[in-house]
Amino acid sequence: MSQLQGEIISVGAPSSNLGDYVETYDNFSWEDVEKQFSWYETGKVNLAYEAIDRHVDAGKGDQIALRFNDPTRDETYTFGDLQAKSNQFANVLRSRGISKGDRVFVFMPRSPELYVSILAIIKVGAVVGPLFEAFMETAVKDRLEDSGAVALVTTTALLPRVKRKELPLLQHLFLVGKDIVPEKGVVDYYKEMELASPEAEIEWVNREDGLILHYTSGSTGKPKGVYHVHNAMLQHYYTGKVVLDLKEGDVYWCTADPGWVTGTSYGIFAPWLHGVTNVVRGGRFSPGDWYETIQKNKVSVWYSAPTAFRMFMGAGEDIVKQYDLSTLRHILSVGEPLNPEVVRWGYKVYGHRIHDTWWMTETGGQLICNYPSMPIKPGSMGKPVPGIHAAIIDDNGKVLPPHRMGNLAIRTPWPSMMRLIWNNAPKYEEYFRIPGWYISGDTAYMDEDGYFWFQGRIDDVINSSGERVGPFEVESKLVEHPAVAEAGVIGKPDPTRGEIIKAFISLREGFAPSEELKAEISRFVKEGLSAHAAPREIEFKDRLPKTRSGKIMRRVLKAWELNLPAGDLSTIED
Ligand code: WTA
Repeated sequence: MSQLQGEIISVGAPSSNLGDYVETYDNFSWEDVEKQFSWYETGKVNLAYEAIDRHVDAGKGDQIALRFNDPTRDETYTFGDLQAKSNQFANVLRSRGISKGDRVFVFMPRSPELYVSILAIIKVGAVVGPLFEAFMETAVKDRLEDSGAVALVTTTALLPRVKRKELPLLQHLFLVGKDIVPEKGVVDYYKEMELASPEAEIEWVNREDGLILHYTSGSTGKPKGVYHVHNAMLQHYYTGKVVLDLKEGDVYWCTADPGWVTGTSYGIFAPWLHGVTNVVRGGRFSPGDWYETIQKNKVSVWYSAPTAFRMFMGAGEDIVKQYDLSTLRHILSVGEPLNPEVVRWGYKVYGHRIHDTWWMTETGGQLICNYPSMPIKPGSMGKPVPGIHAAIIDDNGKVLPPHRMGNLAIRTPWPSMMRLIWNNAPKYEEYFRIPGWYISGDTAYMDEDGYFWFQGRIDDVINSSGERVGPFEVESKLVEHPAVAEAGVIGKPDPTRGEIIKAFISLREGFAPSEELKAEISRFVKEGLSAHAAPREIEFKDRLPKTRSGKIMRRVLKAWELNLPAGDLSTIED
């Protein structure tokens, strides 16, 4: 199916925790992984303890846990510091009655306070709900409402986007900022942190108790709350070892925001479960600043995304030479297909292979990966990690032979598998409609060596710069604009971003198509929903193709866009 299959980049492999890659499925056991955790002996479970306090108890309190850089701050925190700060904030949360099972959201730019808040929320046994700072009113409200969040940690700058009056369950706002006006239900973060004790009891939970709720997009309906439990730490820890290859003394940088699952599972949990230094950089992407971050912090393991690597490639080789990147030992990528030419370029310019990893918000952790020790076939996502059984199956659950394209499916369960879609059991069950399997919604095929090759999505979910965008959410926002009668949204292939969001729009009576109107409509989505959901391209149409039941046929829009045959039109309106 792919002419690239024969090509293997197997030289330059770093030392690896897996040794020579062997198919270890038979003798692998998750129980061996459990033995790494203190709760295997104590019976007391809390991910925040395992990630922070355990290292302090082991005498590593002075080791650096967090290196934070953004254009305005440059700060270092040890594991001891994070233990004290998360305890303080845990006490602040408890003073407002926050306890086990409550949903507490965080909505702020990357900052030490964000990481402290997430740890503290987990420490008190509450379920943390991370939101992207780019979210606007509607996006914030939908998520807080659906989850029944009782509290939100946010900044004074972002506060105007929180429609408190429409959120009766939201009782507490913890505000990070200056000059906070005292008000009922509003807590001044810095002020209360100063007064709070740095000692706190940890809320011991069960392995199946709630940890985190990540909202993510599907092709229909509002974003869904993917619910993960503390048990997920098994996967975070294990993949941190065999995929990220984390070792004592590593300086690790995951470029993802905690608003996205990569920014929590691998931007918080995996590195700290391993007790390594975690680099966090705020601010926007810029090749120079990012290389500078590697140089300055002496990053050894770097986890980023295809869009970023494509932009680095676009920025060229010369800029690479201006920085000392010699501390790098291992580079990984996630979120969208990693183009073979990017792997080749990375190998030439960085001297390292970029290791693709495949997983999803719903899977909670990496499942199909290129290990440090295995030969890489550029363009392939790699092989299932030990403990994970992946296959290509047809719609009836029949396992297909190599080179046949079908549903990428995973044998259930695994430690970090989502346990619920919040408030939406039918949605959850859809993923498990074939007994014994989790159906990912991706299509792929497996080659004769057991490598998996991504082919596409089954549904209409758009992947723009690695971020999942649900067309329905964008369409819903578009039709709120006074000029828009109907809207259909698709992903249009783009060399840098993977896909961009394109909207087809029919206008209401009295509105005429114009470039200004396009710009205004796009801005409307940007300001109402979020920047990454705003259409970069808009095309006006007199009418949109619809089914007889009134559903806009995105498949037909896509076919128009790509000049492809529209396929079966038997359900079209007329
Ligand atoms: C896509 C959380 C190709 C895929 C990490 C998946 C990928 C969706 C890869 C999940 C990859 C993720 N190669 N496609 N290595 N990794 N995807 O939940 O379609 O935001 O279903 O990602 O991204 O998106 P999510």
